[in-house]
Amino acid sequence: MNISVIILAAGQGTRMKSELPKVLHPISGRPMIHYAIETAQRISDDVTVVLFHQAERIEKEITREFEGIRFKLQDHANYPGTGGAVMDIATRHDRVLVLNGDMPLVTAEALEPILQKDGDIVMSVFDLPDPSGYGRVVVENGEVQAIVEEKDCTPELKRIETVNAGVYLFKKEVLDRYLPLLDNDNAQAEYYLTDIVKMAREEGRHIIPVWVEEAAFKGVNSRYDLAHAEEMMQERIRERWMRAGVTMHLPSTIFIDSRATFHGDCTLDNGVTILGASVVTASHIKSHTVVEEADIKNSSVGPMARIRPGSVVIDSQIGNFVEVKKSKLTGVKAGHLSYLGDAEIEEGSNIGAGTITCNYDGRKKYKTKIGRNVFVGSDTQLVAPVTIEDNVMIAAGTTVTKDVKEGSLAISRTPQKIVERFFHRFFGTGGENG
Ligand code: UD1
Ligand code: CA
Repeated sequence: MNISVIILAAGQGTRMKSELPKVLHPISGRPMIHYAIETAQRISDDVTVVLFHQAERIEKEITREFEGIRFKLQDHANYPGTGGAVMDIATRHDRVLVLNGDMPLVTAEALEPILQKDGDIVMSVFDLPDPSGYGRVVVENGEVQAIVEEKDCTPELKRIETVNAGVYLFKKEVLDRYLPLLDNDNAQAEYYLTDIVKMAREEGRHIIPVWVEEAAFKGVNSRYDLAHAEEMMQERIRERWMRAGVTMHLPSTIFIDSRATFHGDCTLDNGVTILGASVVTASHIKSHTVVEEADIKNSSVGPMARIRPGSVVIDSQIGNFVEVKKSKLTGVKAGHLSYLGDAEIEEGSNIGAGTITCNYDGRKKYKTKIGRNVFVGSDTQLVAPVTIEDNVMIAAGTTVTKDVKEGSLAISRTPQKIVERFFHRFFGTGGENG
């Protein structure tokens, strides 16, 4: 499409009260601004992001995931404000879509009605019973006459419920003509992009309002807005996956990262958290389990298990209070209370309750390898690096420090001693000879 996109992200985000730039605050696992950029790249090959506050940091977070983005440093000292942000950008196409970096819910589909309209300026609006925080839009005879920022509103204007959603499609020549004419004669002493509307209207230009859903155009200014946007994003992600064949019990309690994917028949019980680019295939993730950037296939996990980054769990049953980190488990049963880190465990092996891989000596991490059909008794410590070959039994309570050969038993225990009547002598209780 012959449209250039400018994404505004140079503001300080004062209302977030945060060291972290507003547009880097995460929503469903990704910096807020990633969503706006993803949407922009779906409709344009010419995307410019305007930066100023913590510009380097934001640029780094963007180039980590996106290619072909142009960055523009706003002349914030002389031209603060959304109008200042759009100045001096040489866009390639003659229609320019301006998006705010703090609108994570906007999609290409939601922008479609704006892109289809013809006008000197086409802009998004919605009606809100409580319009506070947004610029008020004066509409007469079906066209926009002016946008007035809340801080500049008379009490009468404040009552207008039609607000500026913050997305505009400009003819390039409209920007070229009016940007140099902006002034900062307003409550915030800023150059408002929104002031172009009034000037353009006065010269008989057509400014077309397009009513949009708040669900896609919500702006994030405070952490309260952030939480609200997160809820809306989660709602969207969950719906998508339920429609794709994932059963969710009590969906409102489930958190799914926007990069996670599901395949085949999956079930997520209440309170499940799926983080990062996890891939879950034909598996049942039970209540209050946390999956962090892991790959789970044909398995059941939880309740209350934690599968950490770099883990691959296939054809396995992982039970409560089992933590798995950077390990590959294939056809494994680990039913209760274990830590399996930097391990590779093969088919048919059973990990008893309380088994711990001691993978860290305070300096380095080491690997534990367990072959097929190994029976690891309860309360075993596997001090890595260590290799257990196939068909091995490890007796309960064993501390394994040496490799174990195929077919053997490993046992390390202090022999049990019985001291008769010890209890009664110690406490001076019962017993005939008390
Ligand atoms: C802006 C609109 C308001 C609209 C609202 C919708 C103006 C003057 N007001 O208000 O009418 O209802 O969005 O969400 O445009 N930014 C810069 N450089 C700056 C200042 C801001 O790039 O000097 C960026 C911010 O990073 C942000 C976006 O512009 O992504 C909007 O800025 P913000 O301060 O949030 O504007 P609002 O007060 O929400
Ligand atoms: Ca805003």
